[in-house]
Amino acid sequence: MFSGKKVLITAGPTYEPLDPVRFIGNHSTGKMGFALARCLAEAGAEVSLVSGPTALTLDHALVHITPVMTADEMFAACAKVAPEADLWIFAAAVADYKPKDTATSKIKKSDASFTIELVKNVDIAATLGQQKREDQFAVGFALETDQELENARGKLLKKKLDMVVLNSLRDPGAGFKHDTNKITIVKAASVEEYALKNKDEVAQDILESIKAEWACLQK
Ligand code: CTP
Ligand code: CA
Repeated sequence: MFSGKKVLITAGPTYEPLDPVRFIGNHSTGKMGFALARCLAEAGAEVSLVSGPTALTLDHALVHITPVMTADEMFAACAKVAPEADLWIFAAAVADYKPKDTATSKIKKSDASFTIELVKNVDIAATLGQQKREDQFAVGFALETDQELENARGKLLKKKLDMVVLNSLRDPGAGFKHDTNKITIVKAASVEEYALKNKDEVAQDILESIKAEWACLQK
């Protein structure tokens, strides 16, 4: 069903540099995005995987990886591919903020305390959502600790997503660093809860749920 479809996937963290040796980042490993890329390629889709820094590799003729560092670089790479992609999957843990200034030389310590001013990063999913066409399908992820369903539904609307894969940090074995994940899939008219599974099985569940919802796959 995914054969011949063009898919854009974001994965991994972004690193926002403070100086040539330091950055602000997060614990995302990229496993979920890479698992989705592999499953989709095995199903015959042509995958553009835009990934922040990760230790993972993926060698498949149908997967083209663009490695990026910052949210701005990730956005630029996605903007090139997004108009031609049928399916967008935003699995990256994009840093919400970046340092206002990046020093060109290593910042030296002094006796005074040190304050970093942060400015907001581009919201890749929301910005691309503004130009999403009827025939395109967008999937986002949300990692929440409180008011999970309400927040996930908010992201669905705000970012013009067709589906949000919700991870709750309350579930042991879910989220960053684990090989397993426990997800709830939130769509405009439904909520589906899944059991704790490994990330390859979770990727299959996500693809099945996309198939059930995406009108162009029903034809
Ligand atoms: N996302 C994105 N660009 C950003 C931030 C988030 O593309 N700058 C995407 C993520 O890849 C994910 C979705 O938006 O698919 C939700 O990310 P999340 O961090 O949960 O939501 P935020 O809108 O950043 O809100 P908050 O972190 O305050 O919950
Ligand atoms: Ca965020």
